Amino acid sequence: MTDPLFDLSGRLAVVTGGMGQLGRVYAAGLAERGMRVASFDVTSGEAPDGVRAYEVDITDRAAIEKAMREIEFEWGVPHVLINNAGLDSPPDAPAREVGPFEDYPEVAFDTVMDVNVKGTFLCCQVIGGAMAREGRGSIVNIGSVYGLLSPVQGLYDFRREQGETFVKPVAYSVSKSAILNLTRYLATYWAKAGVRVNTLTLAGVENDQPTEFVEAYAARVPMGRMLDAGEALGAVVFLASDASSYVTGANVVVDGGWSAW
Ligand SMILES: NC(=O)c1ccc[n+]([C@@H]2O[C@H](COP(=O)([O-])OP(=O)(O)OC[C@H]3O[C@@H](n4cnc5c(N)ncnc54)[C@H](O)[C@@H]3O)[C@@H](O)[C@H]2O)c1
Repeated sequence: MTDPLFDLSGRLAVVTGGMGQLGRVYAAGLAERGMRVASFDVTSGEAPDGVRAYEVDITDRAAIEKAMREIEFEWGVPHVLINNAGLDSPPDAPAREVGPFEDYPEVAFDTVMDVNVKGTFLCCQVIGGAMAREGRGSIVNIGSVYGLLSPVQGLYDFRREQGETFVKPVAYSVSKSAILNLTRYLATYWAKAGVRVNTLTLAGVENDQPTEFVEAYAARVPMGRMLDAGEALGAVVFLASDASSYVTGANVVVDGGWSAW
């Protein structure tokens, strides 16, 4: 039996960053539930089954509009937008990017803000705008515990013990905080137009990180482990579907209790 509360079949979703670790899980999971799914990503490659990949840089409004024209022509206006594409400084980022706050490079700040904030804003403008004209839709903006609370610098002590200067950079946290209020702004702006907008805040996802990091992270989480990528999908399905028909402007936190202590 399909539960009508969670039934997404026949609807259309756009997942940004749909070729990444979590985006692939969302895109595949929504396709498995009968949605037509478009991935917008700068990375090309083989999309999960049932997912159509568009090469779109979300910082480029014209590129988003072009892909949207194709989608609308063939499929119609999306019902769901998962704003998942995002940049964080990778573990092997240049030394200045993971050095002292005082010297954090302006260009790195701009790059992260451009994708995480402006890219989300542009996708909301173009795709959310089309949803509002249709009088329905659900937008899920992906946040992070690092946008809710400061990073715990102590989790990275193992790198310092190896002789590196390592500071978890500032831009990612600032960008993910901005998502919380972009969500609230749009939730109220579009409330009567039938478009719901929510943040989904996630804790760190296990992804072959060094054992020292995984252990330090797990010790910081009440549930004692990192998030498995598949565990974020339930909240995405909830927020995308009619099960959350009265939920807007909210921040759904999937963090194993990270923010509870
Ligand atoms: N992995 C985690 O631990 C974690 C924790 C909390 C929140 N998040 C958030 O979840 C989201 C996905 O993270 P992930 O771990 O899957 O990252 P990822 O790097 O595996 O995937 C991100 C995807 O976004 C794409 N992308 C980057 N810039 C883009 C642009 N300008 N236009 C279009 N696509 C672009 C990349 O090509 C990549 O495929 C991010 O918003 C991230 O901040 C991740």
